[in-house]
Amino acid sequence: MALLELENVSASYGSIEALCNIDLHVEAGEIVTLIGANGAGKTTTLMTTSGILRAKSGRIRFDGKDLIGVPAHEVVGLGLAHSPEGRRIFSRMTVLENLELGAFGRSDKEGIQKDINRVFELFPILGERRHQAGGTLSGGEQQMLALGRAMASRPKLLLLDEPSLGLAPLFVHRIFEVIRELNREGVTVLLVEQNARMALKLAHRGYVLETGRITLTDTGENLLKNERVQSAYLGE
Ligand SMILES: Nc1ncnc2c1ncn2[C@@H]1O[C@H](COP(=O)(O)OP(=O)(O)OP(=O)(O)O)[C@@H](O)[C@H]1O
Ligand SMILES: [Mg+2]
Repeated sequence: MALLELENVSASYGSIEALCNIDLHVEAGEIVTLIGANGAGKTTTLMTTSGILRAKSGRIRFDGKDLIGVPAHEVVGLGLAHSPEGRRIFSRMTVLENLELGAFGRSDKEGIQKDINRVFELFPILGERRHQAGGTLSGGEQQMLALGRAMASRPKLLLLDEPSLGLAPLFVHRIFEVIRELNREGVTVLLVEQNARMALKLAHRGYVLETGRITLTDTGENLLKNERVQSAYLGE
């Protein structure tokens, strides 16, 4: 059974239909990427999955449980972490407090400490700045903090929305390296990325989303070779 399965999921904002009968699954251990143009519905797919937005219809199953109707804060407790688009860290809280907040709902103090130390290992700059207010970090550092905060809930599945958006190439590479490393450690990843080429190289499989519908799915490797994908998303 897939770790995450969306079946016939539709979602809308008032009268605006954003997702139309989406079918998508992520197996345990996979990195799966969702690519698509601006406004295609990528963010909406992640928000619907994590319960921030309520699906209009369809089924969402995670780790054997039905997610529809489960509030977002309970979804985190089931092992699904969502690192949203646009950083969304708490700017007045320190780096450490932001990470601790990611672990809210966990009671294994030692485990939390270990996971936070792991974040500092992967992103040493966050360790150096642990007592600094989140809002004073650079954009790239805030991006790392957002990813670190999602890691601190020790998720089975990590939903990442544009983790490299607006970052310098060096930071982009670091973020992708960390995603690969987390995946090697057993974290399953559903990744939304503007940088389709890097995302498809990293991912085992991918889905192409066009105006709220999945139009293509294949291995990352095959999608990279697909002419339609190349002209629409890879600038070739
Ligand atoms: N809060 C909202 N209210 C109304 N419409 C919305 C809202 N959020 C998104 N939409 C619309 O839903 C559609 C899908 O948006 P979504 O944010 O999921 O796209 P996306 O694929 O993540 O795009 P991007 O690459 O620009 O982040 C768009 O047409 C968008 O205008
Ligand atoms: Mg988006």
